[in-house]
Amino acid sequence: MGKVRRRLRVAGLIAAFSLPSLSVQAQGWQVPKPSPGLMPNPAVGKKLFGTHCASCHGVALQGSDKGPPLLHRIYEPSHHADIAFQLAVKNGVRAHHWQFGDMAPLPQVTPDDVAHITAYVRAEQKKAGIR
Ligand code: HEC
Repeated sequence: MGKVRRRLRVAGLIAAFSLPSLSVQAQGWQVPKPSPGLMPNPAVGKKLFGTHCASCHGVALQGSDKGPPLLHRIYEPSHHADIAFQLAVKNGVRAHHWQFGDMAPLPQVTPDDVAHITAYVRAEQKKAGIR
């Protein structure tokens, strides 16, 4: 009995994790990939974040009048996986969680840059107890 239930939960988790990527493929989006072997570095990411993201997401990830805080439960890894960062930068984001409007794509920010930025955001989220 307990075993079956656990198995169902695992199946549900697998479905929950595979569905978003299916819908991404269905829309024909390419998922940008960082260079093989890249070691994402939060210190590098912090600088890049300051240059490209802080004007909207806030210097300390706390948000601004132009964009939401990334230190928010909405953006914890289980709800917005690392791939969400790559897709946001590549394709932009249609406003769906907030009232700030859309986020435009940032073609000058490379997939390697995004991997560093994501490492920085995850490190700060962890410090803030968002995991
Ligand atoms: C011009 C303002 C602006 C800039 C610059 C900007 N963003 Fe955003 N971003 C937004 C807004 C607004 C949203 C929220 C959209 C919503 O869900 O309502 C958002 C949402 C996101 C999301 C959530 C995506 C999702 O799937 O819901 C991520 C991740 C993100 N931004 C990452 C970044 C990163 C990384 C950078 C820098 C490389 C960046 N943003 C630069 C405005 C900006």
